[in-house]
Amino acid sequence: MNKHPLVKEIIFTNEQITTRTKAVAAEISTFYEQQTTEIKEHTVLILGLLKGCVPFYAEFLKHFGYECETDFMVVSSYRGTTKTSGEPKIVLDVNTTLKDKDILIVEDVIDSGLTLKYIKAYLIGKGAKTVRIVTLIDKNNPTRVAGIQADWSCFKMEDEFILGFGLDYQERLRNLPYIGTIDEEQAKNWKW
Ligand code: IMP
Ligand code: MG
Repeated sequence: MNKHPLVKEIIFTNEQITTRTKAVAAEISTFYEQQTTEIKEHTVLILGLLKGCVPFYAEFLKHFGYECETDFMVVSSYRGTTKTSGEPKIVLDVNTTLKDKDILIVEDVIDSGLTLKYIKAYLIGKGAKTVRIVTLIDKNNPTRVAGIQADWSCFKMEDEFILGFGLDYQERLRNLPYIGTIDEEQAKNWKW
């Protein structure tokens, strides 16, 4: 596979991502089937956090076997401004009622956990019955906020900047079919 010049190393290939996503989707489907008597109208709301979730969401959905509805939110990132201060903002809200819903958030990566902490509180505030999280990447960030963990993750890794398969560098490269680390040297003088 051709590597983009800004990528130092491919850490998860497209094939690895597909295989792992399929397994995780099967596991989660089984989980909800086992819970089915408690689930309102036997449907789970699969909630994608745009834009990073897009490729993972599509792959996940194809292999999710329990009945579901789909919706999305756009949450503005605190990134690129100050790293920890300032809370995320909802730029685009869901179009569905959240009362008593069993929600599965689909996220590209959990890093500090600030985005998910905010979203989870928001959904519970709107009356959601359960809020669970599946993430493609679970980063081992020592400053992760308390109480925020993925219920399921495809891959765990150390705290390092990554791009591709939905994850952007300067709003680009979300279309790379793999996940890679960034080549800092190339990035220093990079012109698009
Ligand atoms: P948080 O720090 O857990 O709140 O992560 C917030 C968001 O930042 C994630 O949903 C991603 O969209 C983005 N993000 C976190 N780590 C990376 C990365 O390594 N590359 C690109 N985007 C990232
Ligand atoms: Mg995200």
